[in-house]
Amino acid sequence: MEGVASIMVQIQLGKISDTEEMLFNYEPKKTLATHVFGITGSRKTSLQLEMIKKFKQQQPTPQIVIFSREGDELALRNDFDLILIGQDGEVPIEIKLAKMMGENTRKQHLDVIIDLSSIKTEKEQDEFLANFLDGLMMDGQRHFWKKPCVVMIDEVQLFCNSSSSKSRDAIVRLVTLCRKRSIIPIFGSHQLKDFYWKARNDVGNVIIGYLKDPKQREAACELLKIPISEADTIAGFKDEPKGRFYAEGFDMASPAKVFILENKPYPESEEIPKISLEGLDKAKTFLHSLQPKDQLSVESQLRFELAETRNLADKLALTQDSKENLERVRKEGEEVGYDSAMTHAFYIIKNNEEHSILGIKKSRKVELVKNSKGRLAVVIQ
Ligand SMILES: Nc1ncnc2c1ncn2[C@@H]1O[C@H](COP(=O)(O)OP(=O)(O)O)[C@@H](O)[C@H]1O
Ligand SMILES: [Mg+2]
Repeated sequence: MEGVASIMVQIQLGKISDTEEMLFNYEPKKTLATHVFGITGSRKTSLQLEMIKKFKQQQPTPQIVIFSREGDELALRNDFDLILIGQDGEVPIEIKLAKMMGENTRKQHLDVIIDLSSIKTEKEQDEFLANFLDGLMMDGQRHFWKKPCVVMIDEVQLFCNSSSSKSRDAIVRLVTLCRKRSIIPIFGSHQLKDFYWKARNDVGNVIIGYLKDPKQREAACELLKIPISEADTIAGFKDEPKGRFYAEGFDMASPAKVFILENKPYPESEEIPKISLEGLDKAKTFLHSLQPKDQLSVESQLRFELAETRNLADKLALTQDSKENLERVRKEGEEVGYDSAMTHAFYIIKNNEEHSILGIKKSRKVELVKNSKGRLAVVIQ
């Protein structure tokens, strides 16, 4: 583990002028939480993704944890391995295991993205986020507090607003304790006031995009410690090229300055980018470390099995390619039925035998069915 003291980088977020860059100082145990806000389309998500990408490029040591609701953040998997926790992910989401998942990702220093939309109800999403954060904070386990970690929660107002909730308490705790625990939170929301004031109180860096409401613009000036007349500058962001922000903070410009974000738009694709072999191995270790999963419902256990099978199929897709194998599985499918052929293939994968499985690589549809003996089997076709 690299010493925390040696980690210090300055990342470039954009241009203040032709000759001056907007820099963000990143140093665990020093850097404070950041809040980005602005109306929809003001490029707040793009800015947060750019920050994460730059952290990772310039200093790969910090662990990255991203809570995602809309899936925009999945685009980062094109840049580096982020294990996806959620439906269609390398690891299924499981509310009962949220705290252990948080703890184990920190212990194993994993970059993860949590697809909260995989959880049906808002109440359960709230609970998952709260417990995961709880685990990540490593209460009472001081030796892990040195491990640097960046946590991104876009649309944070959904989890931390004026009504009380478990996730709100967890986010307030995160902001209050983050420096001690070497965690750097990055939040995004539409307005200043939609993010709960107690959490906002300890935010050290504010980055503000275009705001429609004149009152909000004035409140923003107060926060940026600039004259109220500067509200006109924020109003002017509407007519200027997008991606323009006013920023002030402990780890950024002080006094406040305007800058233009320098980024490439993130691809908005339905397809989830794949991770590497190394990433798949880390996902496997992580899955196996979630030990009490045998106490889960049969359905949940099957979701774990399914994820594991999918990971193996992905792994094989990255390591194997042979026409003969595909032919063999196809032939067997025709002779003994597709179900049996694939169930057979599944066992071969499970036992890690080589030279068998290309049929699975071809398409990734995996489903659960009852076989003739009334037992559940995994079928891939
Ligand atoms: N540099 C860029 N050039 C062109 N379009 C961009 C650029 N950066 C972001 N965008 C696009 O602008 C739109 C809004 O950006 P986004 O970051 O999602 O805004 P917000 O999160 O504030 O709603 C997105 O469709 C995004 O792809
Ligand atoms: Mg957004």
